Amino acid sequence: MKKTINGKTKIIGVIGKNIENSLSPLIHNQIILKCSFNFCYLPFQIAETNLGKAIQGIKALNIRGVNITLPYKERVIDFLDEPEESARRIGAVNTIVNNKGILAGYNTDVIGFKKSLQEEGKFTTKGKKAVILGAGGAARAVVYSILEEGIKEVCIFNRTLEKAKKIKQDFSSFFPESNIYVFPLTEENIKDKIEKAHLLVNTTSIGMPPQIDKTPLLDEKLFHPDLLVYDLIYHPAKTLFLRQAERAGAKIINGLPMLIYQGIESFYLWTGFKPEGEEVLEMIKQIF
Ligand code: ATR
Repeated sequence: MKKTINGKTKIIGVIGKNIENSLSPLIHNQIILKCSFNFCYLPFQIAETNLGKAIQGIKALNIRGVNITLPYKERVIDFLDEPEESARRIGAVNTIVNNKGILAGYNTDVIGFKKSLQEEGKFTTKGKKAVILGAGGAARAVVYSILEEGIKEVCIFNRTLEKAKKIKQDFSSFFPESNIYVFPLTEENIKDKIEKAHLLVNTTSIGMPPQIDKTPLLDEKLFHPDLLVYDLIYHPAKTLFLRQAERAGAKIINGLPMLIYQGIESFYLWTGFKPEGEEVLEMIKQIF
């Protein structure tokens, strides 16, 4: 029978503030089509003042679950019934599952980042040094992920130093073997750290529309060929940050693999089915 939306269709989706460029609806609906599941994934653009009501609405509308994106990943925890222990520790939730009116919260960005580093980057984290730009919800997932994988040193640079300090304060005791350092986001601070780093990740929104001609690092000479340079942004597919890194001979990854791998984990939480990561990545790369 040809699949179609009917009275039994289960609703999943994404809640964010500006989600017009989100690829998640495309990814999930492609998986749904391919697997003939009776689900439908919708974008929910929600104003900040309506976040609480929207989360309550998940129960009222019997929505099976949602992804949470910018800028609500941290704030949404307050509206959940059962944030999972690690999501609480990370301080950010990107997936809500509605279990018969009980809202559980998870962070699949952590595993999404981990898998993308392994599969796409062929990168082994243990014993390495990383520089992370930004200290928002996405940065918290990235830092947690590499700490879990045994990174030796993480240097977090952020415009608002307090937020970077909070990450250090929240995570240090769980990962005593790793060193976490925090700095304000200025280039004279960064130079020395990047020189010795193996991994450089941009988690800030600098480079996203409407800031597509901007980059968090102006000095192109800071990049070097021994770096894996990762930008969590996937639209545009190659930010100025990644173009500069590529020119310097560094290996680059954009945010698409992480988006796919975290999406697959979220899909599994809602449906009990886990599609093959490589296959989904190939399918989306062909369309995107
Ligand atoms: P996400 O959930 O994607 O991490 P976020 O929590 O809003 O989103 O975090 C955005 C990150 O981008 C923050 O680190 C932010 O810096 P501040 O903590 O100082 O706000 C950073 N960011 C955004 N625009 C920036 C800009 N123009 N210059 C420097 N940092 C910027």
